[in-house]
Formats: sequence, structure tokens, C-alpha cells
Amino acid sequence: MIDDDVACVDALRHLRDHGWVAFEGMGPGPGPVEALADRIGYVRRTLFGDIWEMTAGAGDHKDSAYDPVALDVHTDGTYSNDAPGTIVFSQQAKDGSGGDSVLVDGFAVARDLFAADPEAADLLTRYEIRGRYLEPGVAVHADRVPIRFDADGVLCQVSFNNYDRAAVLPADPHVDAVLDAYAAFRSMANEPDRAVHLRWEPGRMLVVDNWRMLHGRTDYTGHREFLGCYTNHEDLEGAYELAGLTPGA
Ligand SMILES: [Fe+2]
Repeated sequence: MIDDDVACVDALRHLRDHGWVAFEGMGPGPGPVEALADRIGYVRRTLFGDIWEMTAGAGDHKDSAYDPVALDVHTDGTYSNDAPGTIVFSQQAKDGSGGDSVLVDGFAVARDLFAADPEAADLLTRYEIRGRYLEPGVAVHADRVPIRFDADGVLCQVSFNNYDRAAVLPADPHVDAVLDAYAAFRSMANEPDRAVHLRWEPGRMLVVDNWRMLHGRTDYTGHREFLGCYTNHEDLEGAYELAGLTPGA
């Protein structure tokens, strides 16, 4: 598939239209991960490295993704001023059950929150939430509004991660209202009807637009291994442009 230009345009179109695209029958190892990232732009190096390994219980990082519990839906990199644009996942091994990926369209959540509670949604466009990541040798944070519009008024990014949210907001009389709005977003994002579940098998790969989609995971038993990487969002937008696909859903 990766060598097939037409198939790649179809995959990019699915990614643009739905915020994610999945593949089957991909080979093992880092090669397909890098090749897929190269179709978008290039592998982005982060505190997790270039192409990262995620193995059950490995404890390589102080990140909840490395534990077998269910993961609430979230976006990655809320602690980065430039959150990763896409996440590429590739399952390498599996022995056990559960662990489906759960995908939720964050743009739809934002739009529905505007319809249901415009004041809450508006607060999330104006008040920055701090994302924080700490582990030995790493201390990073970033402040960003959870619902971000570009200069043309187009919804361009959602940032939501209750695991990496800093505990203390700057002193502000609106803190309680902002936290209530954040909770309202979370509650809406967790409505079961919104979730797309993807079951994993070795050879399957998934690319997620991390500026639009929230991702989570059901709990699981047994052993499983993933490889993955990040790419930049401007490269994704460039890939759409080069493929003749108008950016934006
Ligand atoms: Fe994540």
C-alpha cells in the first residue's frame, strides 16, 4: 500500500474526512512505520524518541499508555507548544484480549458543546489549560486553549488530556467555570455513541489526526507490543495539499 500512490491518496482522503485511517497486512518492525510517516512528512523526534516502542508493563516512561488499564480519550502532547499532528500506531504482537483503540471526533465534540452550552464552549476557546509532563530528566509544560480557532475563524485544534492536565490553574475568578466547562467537554467526549472502536491484530496500523481526534483504549489482558511515531501537523496539511485534497474536514 505504501508504495501505491493511488492507495495513499485514498488513505489521506479517509484521514481528512474521518480523522483516522487504518491499515491491515502491514509488515513487522519499524520500516512500515517510518515509510507511512514519510508519506505524510517525516518521523518527529520527541521525548519518547523517534520510533517508539510501547510494550505492556515495560514502564519505560511515566505515561499512562504503558499500563494495561483503560485509557480515557485524550489528545497527545498537551504539554508541547506544538502538539504532534499525527500519531502512527503499529501492533507488533498480541497475546490476550481487549485493548481496542477508542476514537472520538474532537471537532464534533467541540461543535456539539457550542450547541448545548455555548458559554462553556466559549470559555474553552479563551482560557488556556496547562499540560504538564514530568519524569526523571524531563520537565515540560505548555498552555493552550482546549478549543482553538485559526485566524479565519476555522476550528483547527482540540487539546484535551485529563491525565497530563496540570493540577493548578493560574489564579483567575473564572477557574471554577473553566473547570466545569472542561468537565462538560470530557463528559460529552465519553458519550458511548461517539466512540469508534478498532480491534488490534499484528499487522494492523492506525494513523490518527491528533489535532482533531481524541484517542483512548479499553482495558486489556496479556501481552502486547506496539511501535509508533509522531509527525507534524503542517506536514499532514502539506500532504493533503500535494495530493490535491483540500485541507479541513
Ligand atoms: Fe495517547
